[in-house]
Amino acid sequence: MILVAGATGNIGAELVRTLSKQGVPVRALVRDQAKATLPSGVEAVTGDLNRPETLSEALDGVHGMFLLSGYNDLPDLLKRAKKAGVQRVALLSGGSAALQDLNNAVSRYMTLSERAVRASELAWTFLRPRSFMSNSLRWLPQLAVGDVVRVQFPDVRVGAIDPADIAAVAATALTDGGLDGQVLELTGPQALLPADQIAVLAAVLDRPLVAHALSNEETKAELVATMPQEYVDAFLGFFADGTLDEATLYSTVEQVIGRPPSTFAQWATAHADAFK
Ligand SMILES: NC(=O)c1ccc[n+]([C@@H]2O[C@H](COP(=O)([O-])OP(=O)(O)OC[C@H]3O[C@@H](n4cnc5c(N)ncnc54)[C@H](OP(=O)(O)O)[C@@H]3O)[C@@H](O)[C@H]2O)c1
Repeated sequence: MILVAGATGNIGAELVRTLSKQGVPVRALVRDQAKATLPSGVEAVTGDLNRPETLSEALDGVHGMFLLSGYNDLPDLLKRAKKAGVQRVALLSGGSAALQDLNNAVSRYMTLSERAVRASELAWTFLRPRSFMSNSLRWLPQLAVGDVVRVQFPDVRVGAIDPADIAAVAATALTDGGLDGQVLELTGPQALLPADQIAVLAAVLDRPLVAHALSNEETKAELVATMPQEYVDAFLGFFADGTLDEATLYSTVEQVIGRPPSTFAQWATAHADAFK
């Protein structure tokens, strides 16, 4: 049995689908069963990652666990997982874990989560994806009202990755011990500017979309409206100060799953309905 945390999220939902299609017994950890749409045959169990004591039922009989970074007491959660018989964890982390920058809120929670998993004595694989292609869905409110899209960090190239490719790698890590102890840097096949992504969307949606580049000050104002200050500072550090490189591409996805990762055009075509 594989337990998938974040089963309603970008990666978790893809992972539940992937494992279920492969015929692997999978259990979805959710906070609200009413919000979870799961493939038939997938069992949902309620629990809160911030309260490890709520996870007993979810962990019962589990062999492998897909875990997210950044929750309150991961050492306790992992101790309970080990006691329940869990053998292996695939941790969704990110490129900024490599910085080990405890003064940056995002790098800090990823670094501390990886350290907790390393200390747990469970077998582990760390997944360090770069930005998800699905982040472009954040442009939906703008696309609903016009063809001009205000883009943050317009000069920053990112090797964005399809969440389904991250899930495919996670499925391999959890069902095949061959990736135990590995830190996997995961990217898509191209390092694109935001304007390049807009151009791809324009072609896929057949719309005359235009990217409007925001200054760092304008970006900061947008971020402040949507997230706590420490995360605003973290993202400005990564992409305005340039502490995080998301442009370098890796062949990890193809090495693990035996096919190249999806391009942004392939992802956008597969998800075109979501933009309409
Ligand atoms: N977005 C990116 O570009 C990117 C890049 C690299 C790494 N990451 C990392 O990937 C992770 C997922 O990010 P995301 O943006 O894809 O998030 P997301 O899709 O919103 O997924 C978050 C999931 O976690 C669940 N969740 C939240 N709090 C929980 C709790 N206390 N207990 C149990 N489940 C809980 C949510 O469930 P509910 O349905 O109950 O809310 C949801 O299923 C984050 O750690 C992020 O830092 C993201």
